[in-house]
Amino acid sequence: MEVEIGEKKFRLMITADEIALRVNEIAQKINQQEWPEPPLLICILKGSFMFTADLVRRLQIPHSLEFLQLSSYANNLTSSGEVKGLDSFSVSVQNRPILILEDIVDTGLTIESLRNHLLHQGVVSVHVACLLFKPGSFKGSILPEFCGQSIPDNFVIGYGMDVAEQGRNLPDIYVLENAN
Ligand code: PRP
Repeated sequence: MEVEIGEKKFRLMITADEIALRVNEIAQKINQQEWPEPPLLICILKGSFMFTADLVRRLQIPHSLEFLQLSSYANNLTSSGEVKGLDSFSVSVQNRPILILEDIVDTGLTIESLRNHLLHQGVVSVHVACLLFKPGSFKGSILPEFCGQSIPDNFVIGYGMDVAEQGRNLPDIYVLENAN
């Protein structure tokens, strides 16, 4: 199955059923983790809105949920190298364990920047849950611990992820054709 957005063609990579299995597995691991206190979950918008909505419905641990819009890709296929939006987070995080929720960890710049920002504010710990992980482009220092699936270093859309703001609504995940 294919979708076309503008002049770009994408082919089916991960079905909605497969995504649901991955989300279930992540939720189980989070449920089994020993949390010293109820974690504060931070959904990184926009891409993580669908992952977050599905994941939290499977969580059985006490937690609270906040949203933060961070962006580094603008309308490009590669990261700009700069994360925008960190200063807009005004929630008190002191003495809380934090669980960052990401649709995808690519270079790792977004989670690394946020982790550093939070550590300066006295959090107990920072954990990361992501549906997708690209080991080929990861340049961060700490691997995400609750991870759904590793994928090759190609551009993907769907299930919250976009190309120039299109495709976030797709229930499945698609990969750019002829990508490399
Ligand atoms: C995407 C994605 C992650 C980030 C991962 O966000 O949702 O937040 O990039 O890339 P990284 O590991 O290289 O930092 P994007 O900047 O495209 O914003 P969006 O979620 O609003 O689309």
